[in-house]
Amino acid sequence: MAGLGVVPGEMLRDFVVLGELSLDGTIAAVAGVLPAAIGANAMGRGLICPAACGPEAAWAGGGMEILAPRSLIAIANHFKGTQVLTRPEPALRQDAGSLADLADVRGQESGRRALEIAAAGGHNLLMAGPPGAGKSMLASRLPSILPPLMPRELLEVSMIASIGGELSGGKLTDRRPFRAPHHSASMAAMVGGGLRARPGEASLAHHGVLFLDELPEFTPQVLDSLRQPLEAGEVVIARANHRVSYPARFQLVAAMNPCRCGMAGEPGQSCARGPRCAADYQARLSGPFLDRIDMRIEIPAVTAADLIGASASEASAAVAARVAVARAIQAERYERISTGAVGINAHCGAALIEQVAAPDAAGLRLLQDAAAALKLSARGYHRVLKVARTIADLAGSEEVGRAHLAEAIGYRIGGERVLAAA
Ligand SMILES: Nc1ncnc2c1ncn2[C@@H]1O[C@H](COP(=O)(O)OP(=O)(O)OP(=O)(O)O)[C@@H](O)[C@H]1O
Ligand SMILES: [Mg+2]
Repeated sequence: MAGLGVVPGEMLRDFVVLGELSLDGTIAAVAGVLPAAIGANAMGRGLICPAACGPEAAWAGGGMEILAPRSLIAIANHFKGTQVLTRPEPALRQDAGSLADLADVRGQESGRRALEIAAAGGHNLLMAGPPGAGKSMLASRLPSILPPLMPRELLEVSMIASIGGELSGGKLTDRRPFRAPHHSASMAAMVGGGLRARPGEASLAHHGVLFLDELPEFTPQVLDSLRQPLEAGEVVIARANHRVSYPARFQLVAAMNPCRCGMAGEPGQSCARGPRCAADYQARLSGPFLDRIDMRIEIPAVTAADLIGASASEASAAVAARVAVARAIQAERYERISTGAVGINAHCGAALIEQVAAPDAAGLRLLQDAAAALKLSARGYHRVLKVARTIADLAGSEEVGRAHLAEAIGYRIGGERVLAAA
């Protein structure tokens, strides 16, 4: 257009331009406009992008010039001055529909407690139990007790969603991501890849939750591909001639049955295929993968008494309030002592957690005994400390005491009990 003299070329030099031109002259939406806008802003340039992406680009900064025309003619008219485009407004999506509430879950007190701790500290959680006990139900209620994204997190999450083409209408949301891929997911779908090195579920769950239901049904390769992001908080996709890295600091929540028929270890039930059934099923999960899970709990079947006579369970709002307080305590602590990269207990490095979760004398004895008896890995040891720190934060305690550690150790061995019962 500049070559034809329709648009003044020298004015275009101050802009980064992106969009997809249709044959009829309209400009179709493209992925990745938010990071492009932030990049353009950093270079001191303006941005020309498709109309549908305008609200997304507007988040990049109040000072920069943003043009979001519907068609090529609209740009020409804008530069001619006959029809000047207005700057798009940044839009926040008002999530319609309320989230599923924890009040619906009857009984399952220990499951609810574990979910609260996991939400407060951002810990990885594995729930095992017979069919229909409420595992999927509990996990799907996690978003209702998590605090909203902080402004800095919101921008990071939105940039990934933008690149993944997942920002509907160019609007951002402050709800934490909750991704629940089906167990048929491929490696590329999970950690990213494909022709344009798109971000995968692990990255789309950044600062939120990655929920893997029916965990052993995922292929072992896909699960093991999560090992590196679980530790490093990012995914590196290597291609023949370039590498892309996407942030992937998510909280892993998983649910599983103890064996294929689901009844192993249930009182009064027996598994037709004996111990092999559970052993084969659980062998699909690798040791290193399980080692990265901070909390493992059993979700027993609910009894009829729980369902019929039980008084109403606590609603999500009350739990969310306690989680918010515990998160505020953590944010304040890490603001004070660390360089800002850490905001919650789960993200602490080894040295930092040893500093902030140093147990009292009684706690230390318990920890030593447990570490020896359970043959805790170094990672396991630090993960126990992190969970104990969160339990103490929920209790409003400055010190990490014996009771906090005992509960944290209980969550660490929960899984071993499940495995042993089989
Ligand atoms: N604790 C509970 N309180 C109330 N309803 C429950 C509870 N547990 C299960 N239900 C009912 O059973 C249904 C199935 O529960 P859910 O899907 O969470 O089971 P699950 O443990 O994930 O089973 P599976 O192992 O088969 O996936 C729920 O939709 C709900 O109607
Ligand atoms: Mg389920």
